[in-house]
Amino acid sequence: MKKLIATLLIALAPTFVVLNVALASSEAHLEKVEINLNNKASLQRGARTFVNYCLNCHAASYMRYSRMAKDIGLTDEQVVENMIFPADFSKDKNGKPKKAGQLMTVAMSAEDGKAYFGTPVPDLSVVARSRGADWIYTYLKSFYIDESRPFGVNNTTFPSVGMPHVLWELQGLNKAVKTKHTDEHGHESETVEFETVVPGKLSPAEYDSAVTDLVNYLVYMGEPAKLKRYTMGVYVLGFLFLLFVVSYAMKKEFWKDVH
Ligand code: HEC
Repeated sequence: MKKLIATLLIALAPTFVVLNVALASSEAHLEKVEINLNNKASLQRGARTFVNYCLNCHAASYMRYSRMAKDIGLTDEQVVENMIFPADFSKDKNGKPKKAGQLMTVAMSAEDGKAYFGTPVPDLSVVARSRGADWIYTYLKSFYIDESRPFGVNNTTFPSVGMPHVLWELQGLNKAVKTKHTDEHGHESETVEFETVVPGKLSPAEYDSAVTDLVNYLVYMGEPAKLKRYTMGVYVLGFLFLLFVVSYAMKKEFWKDVH
């Protein structure tokens, strides 16, 4: 058995190396974000930022408000009152009364999105799974002033992006200072540093923490069942442990007379 495991590990070793290299190169310029799905307060703050700043363009149409409310520790009433827009708090955009059970859709159609932004606005339900938390975190922090772009901003993580810097009031506006480097092998690389031109309402640390909450929320939304799985995992381990104790006692009992 030991031999078999050893052979397997040796056979698989190159895969680990290759995987590692691939991951390292694609994540080279991304900042790491601490995700904590057990932090309900952070998820609530993230959800608030999401409905206030993102949901006017992006839908999250796999998600129901009521599901979100339950998972992140809010009541249906709190969600209907504070999170479902437009501002006419008793009706949705079709004039129907708002319900916590409705999906997190958006009034803008794909065609309108294309006309306004040059590209349809993607649904963000599972974006944390397609892009990864670190990517979104870095993306939301890397808008910079670029007068040649339609909205006056560009992004180092998503060059020529069609999205305006919707959080600029919070972050402020940055200028990108690019420095070129050449290493001893003649490879050219470029580092970018941001310099604040217009300060935002939040300090850089506060902005980082607001974006962390928002990304935390997007990760939750990408896989709402994860929260349940965490608790389930604890029960499963507890059950396996009990089973082990009982089986061990049984084994002792069965084999006690065999020598
Ligand atoms: C004014 C409309 C608008 C608002 C508001 C907006 N976005 Fe966007 N967003 C876009 C558009 C348009 C794109 C597509 C850009 C492209 O493909 O060039 C986009 C793209 C993205 C992407 C990349 C998706 C992908 O995988 O390609 C992410 C992530 C994203 N937005 C997150 C957010 C978050 C988080 C918020 C809220 C803080 C937000 N957006 C608010 C218009 C908007």
